[in-house]
Amino acid sequence: MPIIIKTPTEWRKTQEKLNHTIGFVPTMGNLHAGHLALVERALKENETVVVSIFVNHTQFNDPADYDNYLRTLDEDCSKLDAINAHYVFNPNKDTMYPENYEVQVSENTDSEFMEGQFRQGHFTGMLTVVLKLLNIIGADKAYFGEKDFQQLKLIQKMVNALFIPTEIIACPTMREENGLALSSRNNRLTDDEKNHASLLYKYLSDFNLSDLEVKEALEKTGFRPEYVETKWGRRLTAAWLGDVRLIDNIPIQERK
Ligand code: PAF
Repeated sequence: MPIIIKTPTEWRKTQEKLNHTIGFVPTMGNLHAGHLALVERALKENETVVVSIFVNHTQFNDPADYDNYLRTLDEDCSKLDAINAHYVFNPNKDTMYPENYEVQVSENTDSEFMEGQFRQGHFTGMLTVVLKLLNIIGADKAYFGEKDFQQLKLIQKMVNALFIPTEIIACPTMREENGLALSSRNNRLTDDEKNHASLLYKYLSDFNLSDLEVKEALEKTGFRPEYVETKWGRRLTAAWLGDVRLIDNIPIQERK
């Protein structure tokens, strides 16, 4: 089983004894094959791998979403054990926020649209916790999925702006066979909904359609899209299916 570390002090004491390259995979737990692919890549490229599992309340704009977020620490540790990950950093709220979130990191340009427009405060909470985690773990490399593409862009920007000495490694989105991007939120979809949700990928990757036409196609097929936009060489979307909010993005060069 991976060794569970609860506090920055405990991690620092452990780290002092390691003379290794460290790979870091930050997560909020409820691990799926997409997370495990990040961990596997980190294991290939580093001698020691740390996975953080912390459901970060400050990045949830909807308190019900935070309450309903599945906490599956035991299952997560078993999955990590099966691929030989070394450490799990699993702090609590008070450990991560000794200042009670009175210190925050924000970005004021690329965080203002798409996810930032529909999820007030989300990116400030996310950047704040990622900065704390990067500072605590002191990894050589940290691995993030491209599925949360705007998040990834903001993290890269923060790391450059604040001279954080951890290299950010972007990893491709993992998908079901039908194209649906893997996400912890998919657990809340029925099998029928999962099939239906694959339309999101289908329309998004149809580059004969404009962004507006993709949005209309989603509306006609029972989604409630919040945005479909082209940015950073990608087409990105967020859309609700029932009470589950799905996000996805496709590089434009994947045009069929
Ligand atoms: O992508 C996530 O799971 C979270 O936003 C992250 C990066 C672990 C920060 O809480």
